[in-house]
Amino acid sequence: MKPKNLTTYIAIPLLILGFTTIKLDDQLQHLIQEKNIVAPEAIPNQDPVKVELGRLLFFDKLLSGNKDVSCATCHHPALASADAIALPIGVGGKGLGKERIMGEDRERVPRNSPDVFNRGAKEWHTMFWDSRVSGSPEEGFVSPADEKLPEGLENLLAVQAMFPVTSRDEMRGEAGDRDVFGEPNEIALISPASEHIIWHRLMMRILEYPKYRRLFKVVYPDIALEDLGFQHAANAIAAFEMAAFTLNDSPWDQYLAGNSKALNKAQKRGAVLFYGKANCSTCHTGPLLTDQQSHNIGVPQIGPGKGNARPIDVGRYAETGKKEDLFAFRTPPLKNVALTGPWMHNGAYQSLEEVIAHHLNPEKHLQQFDTSDLPEELQPTFADENQLIRRLIKNIDDQLKPEQDLSKGEMKDLLSFLHALTDEGAAEIARIIPRRVPSGLPVID
Ligand code: HEC
Ligand code: HEC
Repeated sequence: MKPKNLTTYIAIPLLILGFTTIKLDDQLQHLIQEKNIVAPEAIPNQDPVKVELGRLLFFDKLLSGNKDVSCATCHHPALASADAIALPIGVGGKGLGKERIMGEDRERVPRNSPDVFNRGAKEWHTMFWDSRVSGSPEEGFVSPADEKLPEGLENLLAVQAMFPVTSRDEMRGEAGDRDVFGEPNEIALISPASEHIIWHRLMMRILEYPKYRRLFKVVYPDIALEDLGFQHAANAIAAFEMAAFTLNDSPWDQYLAGNSKALNKAQKRGAVLFYGKANCSTCHTGPLLTDQQSHNIGVPQIGPGKGNARPIDVGRYAETGKKEDLFAFRTPPLKNVALTGPWMHNGAYQSLEEVIAHHLNPEKHLQQFDTSDLPEELQPTFADENQLIRRLIKNIDDQLKPEQDLSKGEMKDLLSFLHALTDEGAAEIARIIPRRVPSGLPVID
């Protein structure tokens, strides 16, 4: 073989390869411009003392009625700011993540514990799977506490932090409970409609500790100790969440910032599908990959159910009473989504492959839902009555339909794209766990 021919043999495939790569980047760049895809805005720097105060509160079980649960129990840095199980185990539970076990006569929390990545971004205007907390400091906040929500909350994330402590199964406990020291749980005795008293009592608990008093004084020098409310604790918790859980340096972010080598080919093909014919970005749109609207996508119903509709969870419908909101849940954001399983509002799916497959044919996946991957105790809770399944299917959002069927290869590419949304830094946030907290309660389960 002459050298000239050899060059041709190598050069032609290389040219073809180069051409397809350029074409893929062109395609993706075109979509990025057409759909105006941008990275989230950077968050403002947080006061380090406030972050430290928030960190201690986030890990302190003092905030729960029985002194046995902290925010970190369900939003743990070593578990991608969630708890790695389908439905959380709150008050009365022991252990962390997959090892966590239920207390006697307790029930699971009805919805999956979401990650809290990037929830301090300016773009967020809803909280919870049913968006029951929403708004902004400028427009005012909407929340289940209505006019009882105190003044002085600095942002939506702080408003959210007011509520886990009022929830009986998450943190507050049941009337008649005793705390881990055998003392009566005074927080659980307060009437549920009196959130402001719950917040006041909790703040009294917190301010008993000199370290907390010192930190609050530094963070709020102009407010007398007796005028401090739980909203000030909530502001500090939000500052900590922003500082610790803002993670926006995934390969996809790097690609958006101009580094075309940040994604491999499968990830680029996946992105083209995601923003193109797979139609994912109809709902998973904007800098956080969510429209923050509610949609029913026919997710199998498992768990104890929520509110008046128990054992069913009607989702956003319970807030609005609008027919189109029946079984609708807020589109989840997708940054770091590969780390945050199990997925969906109730953790019904244990793999991202199943999540993608469900989106492509919700009817079939709902009808043929396989419960064997669920924790044993949740398997019998799958609501499989024909009538319910029919109601769920009837109301499925018609934007869910992809333009055409996707091949196995295309589904794999979509999966690769979802993995490109992971910020490597997420693996390192376990460093932020404090060794001890002012109450002296154990930090590690
Ligand atoms: C027992 C588990 C548990 C504990 C403890 C807990 N959470 Fe949550 N958290 C959840 C669940 C479940 C949801 C979703 C509930 C819903 O949507 O109805 C949630 C939602 C959130 C959200 C909203 C995220 C979003 O995407 O809308 C934030 C932020 C959050 N929690 C922060 C906190 C903070 C701060 C604390 C402590 C004050 C805390 N959580 C305590 C389970 C828990
Ligand atoms: C009609 C709006 C809509 C479209 C289109 C859509 N999704 Fe979703 N997606 C949702 C909603 C709503 C949920 C949560 C549903 C629930 O839990 O009940 C969800 C959940 C997810 C989750 C799980 C996230 C988590 O944290 O639990 C992933 C991953 C996901 N979608 C990826 C995709 C992909 C990939 C596509 C394109 C094939 C897509 N979605 C298309 C609305 C949509």
